[in-house]
Amino acid sequence: MPDILKIKNLSKVYKNNFKALDNLSLNIQEGEIFALLGPNGAGKSTLINTVCGILNFDTGNILVNEFDIKKQYRKARSLIGIVPQELNLEAFETVWDNVNYSRGLYGKSSNYIHIEELLKELSLWDKKDSKLRELSGGMKRRVLIAKALSHEPRILFLDEPTASIDVELRKDMWEVVKRLKKKGVTIILTTHYIFEAEEIADRVGIINNGKIILVDYKDSLISKLGQKILRIELNNKIEKIPYQLEHFNLELNKDMNILTYIYNTKGQNTGITSLLTEIKNLGMQLKDISTEQSSLESIFLNLLKESENELVRS
Ligand SMILES: Nc1ncnc2c1ncn2[C@@H]1O[C@H](COP(=O)(O)OP(=O)(O)O)[C@@H](O)[C@H]1O
Ligand SMILES: [Mg+2]
Repeated sequence: MPDILKIKNLSKVYKNNFKALDNLSLNIQEGEIFALLGPNGAGKSTLINTVCGILNFDTGNILVNEFDIKKQYRKARSLIGIVPQELNLEAFETVWDNVNYSRGLYGKSSNYIHIEELLKELSLWDKKDSKLRELSGGMKRRVLIAKALSHEPRILFLDEPTASIDVELRKDMWEVVKRLKKKGVTIILTTHYIFEAEEIADRVGIINNGKIILVDYKDSLISKLGQKILRIELNNKIEKIPYQLEHFNLELNKDMNILTYIYNTKGQNTGITSLLTEIKNLGMQLKDISTEQSSLESIFLNLLKESENELVRS
């Protein structure tokens, strides 16, 4: 797939001289779901807001379907929809007016059928004449999504879409995201929940201190970087880990019958064969052996730690 969004050497310094984006480059492929994962303050919202033209930036450039966000702002912007992190809605307008008006902002002619479909998809149809201030927080978030989609953008940004929403809405949200992907819409969402990236993204980018520290396909990220856990269940309890096994750095559970061994799948030699041979030589009886893939969570935490260490070193 071609890249629909190209961000090159982007830097953003806030007025107080804080550098929120640091020479950041990132390409997004058309039609993918991309999760931008990073802790609070990493620069996720700053990145999204600069790409959407809400915030200015200092150096670098951004191309949306080859349109330059600064030089060809209207063309570039009309391809983008954004659901911002903060709820910012006109309290006294109705749902219908709000969403319909949004479409007009992008120079698109009215399309009541599209707006009706959108409101129905987002379970907002029976609220179409309600004033926004009468809606719950979750409903307001649905309105924000409807607004972002009102002009049929090809790229949708969702900034922390599931922060402080209920389970129901979260489920609906993912349904909407999946339907949009089927229609060919590119989706970029930010989250600081690893499990969300794991659940929905095709690719994951990890951001910290205004820098992208890693971009990869979710699946290959998990398998390439992942450590695996070997769980060895013994037939009989043991008192402690025998000294012959000490160099394997095993852990013994409280019930004294399960040994866990962490190994790296990337390593040349996992050490499993020699571990199992030693165990056999010691006359320990195995009840069961299983392996678990370590989650994106541990990969993420390891990477953040590494990037912090690099900061300290540099
Ligand atoms: N208007 C601003 N002025 C100064 N610093 C800001 C401003 N907005 C955000 N920041 C700082 O920039 C960093 C990145 O913020 P943000 O992009 O909101 O992070 P994220 O969305 O990943 O939580 C944070 O350290 C934040 O305090
Ligand atoms: Mg944010």
